[in-house]
Amino acid sequence: MSSPLILINFKSYREGFGHKAHKIAQSAEIVSQESGIPIALAPCYMDIHPISHHYSLPVYAQHIDGITPGAHTGGILAEAVKEAGATGTLINHSERRLTLADIDAAVTAARDAHLASVVCTNNAATSAAAASLSPSYIAIEPPELIGSGVSVSKTDPGIIERTVEAVKSVNPDVRVLTGAGISTGECVKIAVELGTDGVLLASGVVKAENPQKVLEDLVSLL
Ligand code: G3P
Repeated sequence: MSSPLILINFKSYREGFGHKAHKIAQSAEIVSQESGIPIALAPCYMDIHPISHHYSLPVYAQHIDGITPGAHTGGILAEAVKEAGATGTLINHSERRLTLADIDAAVTAARDAHLASVVCTNNAATSAAAASLSPSYIAIEPPELIGSGVSVSKTDPGIIERTVEAVKSVNPDVRVLTGAGISTGECVKIAVELGTDGVLLASGVVKAENPQKVLEDLVSLL
């Protein structure tokens, strides 16, 4: 089995763009290099190009639209995100929900642009539906725990187990991440022991006073 992935979503937090995004990226690069654990970053769109060119870590967009180049004012084009330096994208985050048809189009756009796709879901049933679209990853995140500081691994391990089972029964090649309230190495360890391939997290790192310390702890039990 390959090393679990730690994927950090910078959202639109005040602490997560511009020079502050660079500080987090720099810390993540150090921790990833020292631990050998893959860490990927999902900064805001404006930071995709600088972050992907200054650091060696994979960069993800926070969303793409299921569109092809053309007349789409304000559209987020997979090909443009790729050209800016991203290697993957989140799709259908809880704070950026899409219809199933939109998710399908976005996963297809990501695949065509050679971007890894992480489709976020809220329960085992939606995870199974999303797995049928064959994204690279499903990320299960109970919405009520997002940003709460209360860890899904400790509070609701059942949803992780049910999601892994549902996803693997539809498409065993789709990997599973989990997120919501993840902030310690123990949360990551439990998530991996429950069968996931890593975690998706935000506030625990982005809003931390010392992101490097949190990152060191996150990878410490792997
Ligand atoms: O995308 C990750 C996210 O929704 C979880 O947020 O702040 O609970 O780690 P947080």
